Amino acid sequence: MSKRKGIVLAGGVATRLFPLTLSISKQIMPVYDKPMIYYPISVLMEANIKEILIISTPAYINTFKELLGDGSKWGISFTYKVQEKPNGLAEAFILGEEFIGNSNVAMILGDNMFYGNNLNKILKSADERENEATIFGYYVKDPTAYGVVEIDENKRAISIEEKPKVPKSNYAVPGLYFYPNSVVEIAKKIKPSARGELEITEVSSEYMRRNLLKVEILGRQMVWFDTGTYDSLLETASFVQTIEKRQGIQICCPEEIAYKKGWISTNELSNLADKLMKTEYGKFLKDLAENKIIF
Ligand code: DAU
Repeated sequence: MSKRKGIVLAGGVATRLFPLTLSISKQIMPVYDKPMIYYPISVLMEANIKEILIISTPAYINTFKELLGDGSKWGISFTYKVQEKPNGLAEAFILGEEFIGNSNVAMILGDNMFYGNNLNKILKSADERENEATIFGYYVKDPTAYGVVEIDENKRAISIEEKPKVPKSNYAVPGLYFYPNSVVEIAKKIKPSARGELEITEVSSEYMRRNLLKVEILGRQMVWFDTGTYDSLLETASFVQTIEKRQGIQICCPEEIAYKKGWISTNELSNLADKLMKTEYGKFLKDLAENKIIF
Protein backbone atom coordinates (compact mmCIF):
# COMPACT_ATOMS: atom_id res chain seq x y z
CA MET A 1 0.00 0.00 0.00
CA SER A 2 1.14 3.48 -0.74
CA LYS A 3 2.14 5.70 2.17
CA ARG A 4 1.29 8.65 -0.03
CA LYS A 5 -1.83 10.68 0.67
CA GLY A 6 -4.20 11.89 -2.02
CA ILE A 7 -6.07 15.12 -2.70
CA VAL A 8 -8.97 15.62 -5.07
CA LEU A 9 -9.42 19.31 -5.79
CA ALA A 10 -13.07 19.83 -6.57
CA GLY A 11 -13.77 23.51 -5.99
CA GLY A 12 -13.69 26.44 -8.37
CA VAL A 13 -16.50 28.29 -10.07
CA ALA A 14 -16.66 26.47 -13.44
CA THR A 15 -17.59 29.61 -15.36
CA ARG A 16 -16.80 27.79 -18.61
CA LEU A 17 -19.81 25.56 -17.99
CA PHE A 18 -22.38 28.27 -17.17
CA PRO A 19 -25.38 28.04 -16.94
CA LEU A 20 -24.91 24.32 -16.16
CA THR A 21 -22.91 25.07 -13.05
CA LEU A 22 -24.80 28.11 -11.76
CA SER A 23 -26.35 26.08 -8.97
CA ILE A 24 -24.52 22.74 -8.93
CA SER A 25 -20.92 21.71 -8.53
CA LYS A 26 -19.17 20.79 -11.77
CA GLN A 27 -17.52 17.75 -10.21
CA ILE A 28 -20.86 16.26 -9.20
CA MET A 29 -22.25 16.42 -12.72
CA PRO A 30 -22.69 13.20 -14.69
CA VAL A 31 -20.06 11.85 -17.00
CA TYR A 32 -22.24 9.22 -18.66
CA ASP A 33 -23.11 6.90 -15.75
CA LYS A 34 -21.16 8.30 -12.79
CA PRO A 35 -20.65 11.59 -10.97
CA MET A 36 -17.55 13.26 -12.38
CA ILE A 37 -15.60 12.97 -9.12
CA TYR A 38 -15.67 9.15 -9.32
CA TYR A 39 -13.14 9.33 -12.16
CA PRO A 40 -10.32 11.15 -10.34
CA ILE A 41 -10.99 9.23 -7.12
CA SER A 42 -10.55 6.00 -9.10
CA VAL A 43 -7.16 7.14 -10.30
CA LEU A 44 -5.93 7.70 -6.74
CA MET A 45 -7.34 4.32 -5.73
CA GLU A 46 -5.53 2.70 -8.68
CA ALA A 47 -2.38 4.30 -7.27
CA ASN A 48 -3.08 2.41 -4.01
CA ILE A 49 -3.83 5.63 -2.16
CA LYS A 50 -6.43 5.04 0.52
CA GLU A 51 -6.42 8.31 2.45
CA ILE A 52 -7.99 11.03 0.37
CA LEU A 53 -8.77 14.68 1.09
CA ILE A 54 -11.65 16.18 -0.89
CA ILE A 55 -11.43 19.95 -1.22
CA SER A 56 -14.45 21.92 -2.41
CA THR A 57 -16.32 25.18 -1.96
CA PRO A 58 -18.37 26.23 1.08
CA ALA A 59 -21.51 25.81 -1.07
CA TYR A 60 -20.82 22.25 -2.23
CA ILE A 61 -18.65 20.47 0.32
CA ASN A 62 -21.73 18.88 1.89
CA THR A 63 -22.87 17.53 -1.46
CA PHE A 64 -19.65 15.55 -1.65
CA LYS A 65 -19.98 14.37 1.94
CA GLU A 66 -23.45 13.12 1.11
CA LEU A 67 -22.27 11.33 -2.02
CA LEU A 68 -19.06 9.83 -0.70
CA GLY A 69 -19.39 9.63 3.08
CA ASP A 70 -16.32 8.61 5.05
CA GLY A 71 -15.13 6.28 2.28
CA SER A 72 -15.61 3.07 4.29
CA LYS A 73 -18.08 1.70 1.72
CA TRP A 74 -15.10 1.53 -0.68
CA GLY A 75 -12.60 0.49 2.01
CA ILE A 76 -10.87 3.88 1.99
CA SER A 77 -11.10 7.11 3.96
CA PHE A 78 -12.26 10.55 2.90
CA THR A 79 -11.51 13.76 4.77
CA TYR A 80 -13.03 17.07 3.71
CA LYS A 81 -11.76 20.63 3.58
CA VAL A 82 -13.33 23.86 2.37
CA GLN A 83 -11.53 26.22 0.02
CA GLU A 84 -13.16 29.58 0.73
CA LYS A 85 -12.20 31.13 -2.61
CA PRO A 86 -10.69 29.75 -5.83
CA ASN A 87 -7.22 31.03 -4.98
CA GLY A 88 -5.50 28.54 -7.24
CA LEU A 89 -4.57 24.88 -7.43
CA ALA A 90 -1.43 25.17 -5.31
CA GLU A 91 -3.51 26.39 -2.35
CA ALA A 92 -4.63 22.77 -1.93
CA PHE A 93 -1.29 21.94 -0.32
CA ILE A 94 -1.62 24.77 2.19
CA LEU A 95 -5.20 23.81 3.02
CA GLY A 96 -4.11 20.18 3.20
CA GLU A 97 -1.07 20.72 5.41
CA GLU A 98 -2.49 18.98 8.47
CA PHE A 99 -3.95 16.13 6.42
CA ILE A 100 -0.67 15.62 4.54
CA GLY A 101 1.41 15.55 7.73
CA ASN A 102 4.76 13.90 6.97
CA SER A 103 3.56 12.06 3.87
CA ASN A 104 4.18 12.56 0.20
CA VAL A 105 1.12 13.53 -1.76
CA ALA A 106 -0.63 13.05 -5.09
CA MET A 107 -3.16 15.62 -6.21
CA ILE A 108 -5.70 15.16 -8.98
CA LEU A 109 -8.15 17.73 -10.30
CA GLY A 110 -11.79 16.82 -9.84
CA ASP A 111 -12.53 17.25 -13.53
CA ASN A 112 -9.75 15.07 -14.95
CA MET A 113 -10.18 11.50 -16.17
CA PHE A 114 -7.50 9.01 -17.18
CA TYR A 115 -7.91 5.63 -18.79
CA GLY A 116 -5.48 3.20 -20.32
CA ASN A 117 -3.64 -0.04 -20.26
CA ASN A 118 -0.50 1.26 -18.71
CA LEU A 119 -2.02 3.46 -16.05
CA ASN A 120 -1.26 1.10 -13.16
CA LYS A 121 2.40 0.88 -14.00
CA ILE A 122 2.75 4.61 -14.55
CA LEU A 123 1.08 5.40 -11.23
CA LYS A 124 3.23 2.86 -9.41
CA SER A 125 6.48 4.34 -10.66
CA ALA A 126 5.34 7.88 -9.87
CA ASP A 127 4.44 6.76 -6.36
CA GLU A 128 7.78 5.05 -5.88
CA ARG A 129 9.72 8.20 -6.74
CA GLU A 130 9.72 9.35 -3.14
CA ASN A 131 12.13 12.25 -3.29
CA GLU A 132 11.26 13.53 -6.74
CA ALA A 133 8.13 15.15 -8.14
CA THR A 134 6.34 13.60 -11.11
CA ILE A 135 4.14 15.40 -13.59
CA PHE A 136 2.83 14.05 -16.87
CA GLY A 137 2.99 15.20 -20.46
CA TYR A 138 0.20 14.45 -22.93
CA TYR A 139 0.58 15.30 -26.60
CA VAL A 140 -2.36 17.39 -27.83
CA LYS A 141 -3.01 19.30 -31.02
CA ASP A 142 -3.68 22.57 -29.23
CA PRO A 143 -2.10 22.88 -25.76
CA THR A 144 -2.90 26.59 -25.23
CA ALA A 145 -5.65 25.85 -22.68
CA TYR A 146 -3.30 23.95 -20.39
CA GLY A 147 -0.03 23.99 -18.54
CA VAL A 148 2.60 23.20 -21.18
CA VAL A 149 5.89 21.43 -20.52
CA GLU A 150 8.89 21.62 -22.77
CA ILE A 151 11.33 18.70 -22.54
CA ASP A 152 14.86 18.07 -23.75
CA GLU A 153 16.19 14.95 -25.47
CA ASN A 154 16.57 13.24 -22.08
CA LYS A 155 12.93 13.97 -21.31
CA ARG A 156 13.89 16.44 -18.59
CA ALA A 157 11.66 19.50 -18.28
CA ILE A 158 13.24 22.74 -19.46
CA SER A 159 10.20 24.99 -19.13
CA ILE A 160 6.65 24.84 -17.81
CA GLU A 161 4.20 27.58 -18.67
CA GLU A 162 0.55 28.08 -17.78
CA LYS A 163 -1.72 28.56 -20.82
CA PRO A 164 0.95 30.09 -23.07
CA LYS A 165 -0.26 31.94 -26.16
CA VAL A 166 2.71 30.54 -28.06
CA PRO A 167 3.40 27.09 -26.60
CA LYS A 168 6.96 25.78 -26.66
CA SER A 169 5.73 22.19 -27.13
CA ASN A 170 2.55 20.18 -27.70
CA TYR A 171 2.79 18.50 -24.30
CA ALA A 172 -0.10 19.53 -22.09
CA VAL A 173 0.33 18.84 -18.38
CA PRO A 174 -2.68 16.87 -17.10
CA GLY A 175 -4.14 17.61 -13.69
CA LEU A 176 -2.33 14.84 -11.78
CA TYR A 177 0.71 15.69 -9.70
CA PHE A 178 2.91 13.54 -7.47
CA TYR A 179 4.96 15.63 -5.04
CA PRO A 180 7.26 14.96 -2.11
CA ASN A 181 6.29 16.32 1.30
CA SER A 182 8.28 19.51 0.60
CA VAL A 183 5.35 20.67 -1.58
CA VAL A 184 3.68 22.18 1.48
CA GLU A 185 6.61 24.53 2.11
CA ILE A 186 6.96 25.30 -1.60
CA ALA A 187 3.26 26.15 -1.95
CA LYS A 188 3.50 28.54 1.00
CA LYS A 189 6.26 30.51 -0.71
CA ILE A 190 4.56 30.99 -4.08
CA LYS A 191 3.21 34.43 -4.96
CA PRO A 192 -0.15 34.83 -6.73
CA SER A 193 0.12 35.12 -10.52
CA ALA A 194 -1.20 37.97 -12.68
CA ARG A 195 -4.64 36.31 -12.58
CA GLY A 196 -4.43 36.23 -8.78
CA GLU A 197 -3.95 32.47 -8.36
CA LEU A 198 -1.35 30.26 -6.67
CA GLU A 199 -0.35 28.39 -9.81
CA ILE A 200 0.49 24.69 -9.82
CA THR A 201 2.94 25.38 -12.66
CA GLU A 202 4.98 27.43 -10.18
CA VAL A 203 5.19 24.45 -7.84
CA SER A 204 6.38 22.14 -10.62
CA SER A 205 8.81 24.80 -11.88
CA GLU A 206 10.36 24.95 -8.42
CA TYR A 207 11.00 21.17 -8.53
CA MET A 208 12.41 21.65 -12.03
CA ARG A 209 14.84 24.30 -10.72
CA ARG A 210 15.87 21.91 -7.93
CA ASN A 211 16.46 19.23 -10.58
CA LEU A 212 13.86 17.04 -8.88
CA LEU A 213 11.16 16.90 -11.53
CA LYS A 214 10.36 13.83 -13.59
CA VAL A 215 8.10 14.25 -16.61
CA GLU A 216 6.35 11.04 -17.56
CA ILE A 217 5.07 11.16 -21.13
CA LEU A 218 1.70 9.46 -21.53
CA GLY A 219 1.73 7.61 -24.82
CA ARG A 220 -0.91 6.82 -27.41
CA GLN A 221 -2.37 4.01 -25.33
CA MET A 222 -3.51 6.49 -22.68
CA VAL A 223 -6.62 8.61 -22.68
CA TRP A 224 -6.78 11.86 -20.76
CA PHE A 225 -9.71 14.25 -20.67
CA ASP A 226 -10.32 17.45 -18.77
CA THR A 227 -14.07 17.89 -18.64
CA GLY A 228 -14.16 21.63 -18.09
CA THR A 229 -16.09 22.73 -21.20
CA TYR A 230 -19.36 21.69 -22.89
CA ASP A 231 -17.51 19.85 -25.62
CA SER A 232 -15.00 18.03 -23.46
CA LEU A 233 -17.76 17.01 -21.04
CA LEU A 234 -19.75 15.48 -23.87
CA GLU A 235 -16.69 13.90 -25.49
CA THR A 236 -15.65 12.26 -22.24
CA ALA A 237 -19.16 10.92 -21.65
CA SER A 238 -19.30 9.55 -25.22
CA PHE A 239 -15.94 7.88 -24.79
CA VAL A 240 -17.05 6.22 -21.55
CA GLN A 241 -20.34 5.13 -23.12
CA THR A 242 -18.63 3.68 -26.19
CA ILE A 243 -16.16 1.54 -24.27
CA GLU A 244 -18.56 0.45 -21.55
CA LYS A 245 -21.31 -0.61 -23.98
CA ARG A 246 -18.95 -2.32 -26.39
CA GLN A 247 -16.96 -4.28 -23.82
CA GLY A 248 -19.44 -4.57 -20.98
CA ILE A 249 -16.83 -3.26 -18.57
CA GLN A 250 -16.71 -0.22 -16.33
CA ILE A 251 -14.35 2.71 -16.65
CA CYS A 252 -13.11 4.25 -13.40
CA CYS A 253 -15.47 2.35 -11.15
CA PRO A 254 -14.42 2.82 -7.49
CA GLU A 255 -16.34 -0.26 -6.29
CA GLU A 256 -14.55 -2.49 -8.80
CA ILE A 257 -11.13 -1.13 -7.88
CA ALA A 258 -11.83 -1.50 -4.15
CA TYR A 259 -12.94 -5.10 -4.69
CA LYS A 260 -10.02 -6.09 -6.91
CA LYS A 261 -7.58 -4.63 -4.43
CA GLY A 262 -9.21 -6.59 -1.62
CA TRP A 263 -10.37 -3.49 0.24
CA ILE A 264 -13.98 -4.69 0.30
CA SER A 265 -15.35 -8.22 0.54
CA THR A 266 -17.56 -10.04 -1.96
CA ASN A 267 -20.45 -9.54 0.41
CA GLU A 268 -19.85 -5.82 0.69
CA LEU A 269 -19.62 -5.51 -3.09
CA SER A 270 -22.83 -7.44 -3.51
CA ASN A 271 -24.59 -5.15 -1.02
CA LEU A 272 -23.39 -2.08 -2.91
CA ALA A 273 -24.71 -3.64 -6.14
CA ASP A 274 -28.14 -4.29 -4.60
CA LYS A 275 -28.84 -0.56 -4.38
CA LEU A 276 -28.11 -0.05 -8.09
CA MET A 277 -29.80 -3.03 -9.68
CA LYS A 278 -31.94 -0.97 -12.05
CA THR A 279 -28.77 0.01 -13.91
CA GLU A 280 -26.05 -1.65 -15.95
CA TYR A 281 -23.66 -0.27 -13.33
CA GLY A 282 -25.35 -2.27 -10.58
CA LYS A 283 -25.59 -5.40 -12.74
CA PHE A 284 -21.89 -5.11 -13.51
CA LEU A 285 -21.07 -4.99 -9.79
CA LYS A 286 -23.31 -7.98 -9.13
CA ASP A 287 -21.64 -9.97 -11.93
CA LEU A 288 -18.27 -9.03 -10.50
CA ALA A 289 -19.32 -10.26 -7.05
CA GLU A 290 -20.58 -13.50 -8.60
CA ASN A 291 -17.33 -13.98 -10.46
CA LYS A 292 -18.93 -13.64 -13.88
CA ILE A 293 -16.57 -10.93 -15.15
CA ILE A 294 -13.35 -12.45 -16.33
CA PHE A 295 -11.92 -9.44 -18.23
O1 DAU B 1 -6.70 20.00 -16.56
C1 DAU B 1 -5.35 20.27 -16.60
C2 DAU B 1 -5.05 21.74 -16.39
O2 DAU B 1 -5.66 22.14 -15.14
C3 DAU B 1 -3.53 21.98 -16.34
O3 DAU B 1 -2.96 21.72 -17.60
C4 DAU B 1 -3.22 23.42 -15.91
O4 DAU B 1 -1.84 23.59 -15.75
C5 DAU B 1 -3.93 23.75 -14.62
O5 DAU B 1 -3.75 25.09 -14.23
C6 DAU B 1 -5.42 23.49 -14.75
O6 DAU B 1 -5.95 24.37 -15.71
P1 DAU B 1 -7.50 24.73 -15.79
O7 DAU B 1 -7.72 25.89 -16.66
O8 DAU B 1 -8.27 23.50 -16.09
O9 DAU B 1 -7.74 25.14 -14.30
P2 DAU B 1 -9.10 25.52 -13.64
O10 DAU B 1 -9.01 26.89 -13.13
O11 DAU B 1 -10.24 25.19 -14.56
O12 DAU B 1 -9.15 24.54 -12.40
C7 DAU B 1 -8.98 23.14 -12.51
C8 DAU B 1 -9.90 22.44 -11.53
O13 DAU B 1 -9.58 22.79 -10.19
C9 DAU B 1 -11.34 22.77 -11.72
O14 DAU B 1 -12.07 21.55 -11.63
C10 DAU B 1 -11.71 23.68 -10.59
C11 DAU B 1 -10.70 23.37 -9.54
N1 DAU B 1 -10.24 24.53 -8.80
C12 DAU B 1 -9.65 25.55 -9.47
C13 DAU B 1 -9.12 26.63 -8.77
C14 DAU B 1 -8.45 27.76 -9.51
C15 DAU B 1 -10.32 24.56 -7.42
O15 DAU B 1 -10.86 23.61 -6.82
N2 DAU B 1 -9.83 25.62 -6.74
C16 DAU B 1 -9.21 26.66 -7.36
O16 DAU B 1 -8.75 27.58 -6.66
